[in-house]
Amino acid sequence: MVKLTGYKKVKTAVFISGTGSNLESLIKFSKTNRSPISIDLIVSNNPRAKGLSFGKTFKIKKKIFNFEKKNQNENKILNTLKHYDIKMIFLAGFMRILSKNFITKFRGKILNIHPSLLPKFKGLNTHQRALDNKEKYSGCTVHFVNSRLDSGKIILQKKVKILKNETKQSLAAKVLSQEHKLYPRAILKVFNL
Ligand code: GRF
Repeated sequence: MVKLTGYKKVKTAVFISGTGSNLESLIKFSKTNRSPISIDLIVSNNPRAKGLSFGKTFKIKKKIFNFEKKNQNENKILNTLKHYDIKMIFLAGFMRILSKNFITKFRGKILNIHPSLLPKFKGLNTHQRALDNKEKYSGCTVHFVNSRLDSGKIILQKKVKILKNETKQSLAAKVLSQEHKLYPRAILKVFNL
């Protein structure tokens, strides 16, 4: 559980690589009175990530880092997070794996959202794999990040039913709209709210 100190919202960063629809839902949540967090920084490995435009819309600082050159850049990233007083990180469609050293520096303070009912279908292409496996249900999971891919402690999950003529696209859309509700709920849970 993360403890709230005083009445100030905890400063956080959201890491993205693409569209950023989860980022948008987290920003909207962060602006509500019941949110224990503010979003003060958007980080991306991809300079062309569509979601970066939310930085402009909501006047949030953006930073782009090359996560490929880990050792060289990691200190830069950590220093930037320190500069903005970032206490928690939310991964939202972030397509890079953070190093063990990085995760250790934010132990218990990095959350991720994954489009499957973990521990099923870790990694990529979750919707097709759920269909190929003839699953009756799929869904999404918010979990803590540890050094093993999609394997940290589960915070919350939401199930969706897979219909007879479900396609990868229809399933993805259905799951994504649940993700937008689940991530804020998981944050409230982490803060015991
Ligand atoms: C979401 O399905 C998320 O669970 C997965 O990538 C997708 C990102 O979507 N990791 P968006 O960028 O938040 O729109």
